[in-house]
Amino acid sequence: MATLELSNIRKAYGGTPVLDDVSLSVAEREFIAFLGPSGSGKSTLLRIIAGLETLDAGEVRLGGERIDPLPPGRRGVAMVFQHYALYPHMSVRENMAFGLRNARVPREEIEARVAEAARVLEIEAQLDKKPAQMSGGQRQRVAIGRAIVKQPRLFLLDEPLSNLDAALRMRTRVELAQLRQRVDAAFIMVTHDQAEAMTLADRIVVMNDRRIQQVGAPMEIYSRPANTFVARFVGSPAMTLAPAALSDGEGPFARVRLASGAEVETRVPRAGLPAGDGLLLGLRPEMVSVTAPGAGTADAEVMLLERLGERTLVYARLAGGQDVTAEDKGDSPLRTGDRIGLRLDGAAAHLFGPDGAGHHAEAAR
Ligand SMILES: Nc1ncnc2c1ncn2[C@@H]1O[C@H](COP(=O)(O)OP(=O)(O)O)[C@@H](O)[C@H]1O
Ligand SMILES: [Mg+2]
Repeated sequence: MATLELSNIRKAYGGTPVLDDVSLSVAEREFIAFLGPSGSGKSTLLRIIAGLETLDAGEVRLGGERIDPLPPGRRGVAMVFQHYALYPHMSVRENMAFGLRNARVPREEIEARVAEAARVLEIEAQLDKKPAQMSGGQRQRVAIGRAIVKQPRLFLLDEPLSNLDAALRMRTRVELAQLRQRVDAAFIMVTHDQAEAMTLADRIVVMNDRRIQQVGAPMEIYSRPANTFVARFVGSPAMTLAPAALSDGEGPFARVRLASGAEVETRVPRAGLPAGDGLLLGLRPEMVSVTAPGAGTADAEVMLLERLGERTLVYARLAGGQDVTAEDKGDSPLRTGDRIGLRLDGAAAHLFGPDGAGHHAEAAR
C-alpha cells in the first residue's frame, strides 16, 4: 500500500510555475530521494508535503487520508532541515522533548520517546549536553531525534547532510542508512548530491524544469536514463553524448555513425528509433577504453588526464572535434597530446532521439 500519494500537484510563485503536474506514489517504509539541480522545485515539493507551503492544484494523501488541507502539526510527518536550529540554552534532552511538551504529550510518554530516539541515534551519553558542546554531526543527529520523537509516518529531510564536511557527511550518510532500518516510516530526502541519492534511496525521483524527469531504482536511473537530462545529470563524470546518424542495415540492432566517421554497433533495438540523423550516442566513461591508434573504434587525441588513483579519466577528442571521456588504469602511461585509439563499447551504449528520449540496450535475460 502506498503511504504517500501525490496527485497532479501544481505550484507557481507570482505567476511563475515551479511545479507542473507532479504525481508520485511512495510505498510504506520506502526511502525516496528527490534529486535535481538547484531551483528544480525539490524543496517546494517537500514543503508542500509538510504543509509549510500551499499548493495551487492537486492532492496529497498519507495513508489514504487527504492531508493537504491540514496544518503541518496534524499531518503525521516530521521535517529535518539543512540548518538544524537547535535551542542553544536547552540540553539535548530538552531540545528533543520540546515539541512533544508543546503538544501536551504526557511526561512519561515524552521520557520514553526521547530515550528511544537517543538509543536509535546512539546519543544516550549526550542527553544532558548543550548543542554548543557537540560536533556538527552530533547536532544534526539531535535534529533528526526531534523528528523521531514525533513518531511520524513520513520523514522529510531537506539536504540534511549538506552542512557537514566531507568526512562527516560520509559517516552520517552511513548512519542515516542504518537509522532507516530501525525506524518504521517512509523517508523522503532532498539532495543535489547524486552519491547521496544513489547510496541511500530505494528509488530516486529526478527533478528538473518543474517536472519529474524519471522515477526509478538507483541503478535503473543510471543504466536506463529516460532522457538526456537524466543521462547528463546522473553519473560522474557525465556521460558523453555524441551526435550520431543511424546507418542503413537489416539487423535488429541500431548501427550509428559519428561525425568522425566512426561506426558503432549498438544493442539498442532498431525498431522504435526515429530514422535519419539527430540522434545522440551515449557513452559512460567505463564504456570507452584506451588502445593503440588504429586498433580501436576511433582515433583520438588526449586533451586532459585526471588521475583518481584506482583509475585515470581520459578526456580525449575525436577527429571532427567530438569530446569523449574514457577510462584507463590507475597507472596509465598516457600524457596530454598523445594519439590514442578508443574502443567504444557499443553493446552498452545508449541512444537518444531528437526529442531527448532514451533508447537502451535490451536488458540481458
Ligand atoms: N517563497 C518563494 N517565493 C518565490 N519563489 C520561490 C519561493 N520558494 C522557491 N521559489 C522559487 O521556486 C523555484 C524552486 O525552488 P526550490 O523548490 O527551493 O528548488 P530546489 O530545492 O530544487 O533548489 C526556484 O526558482 C525558487 O527561486
Ligand atoms: Mg532546496
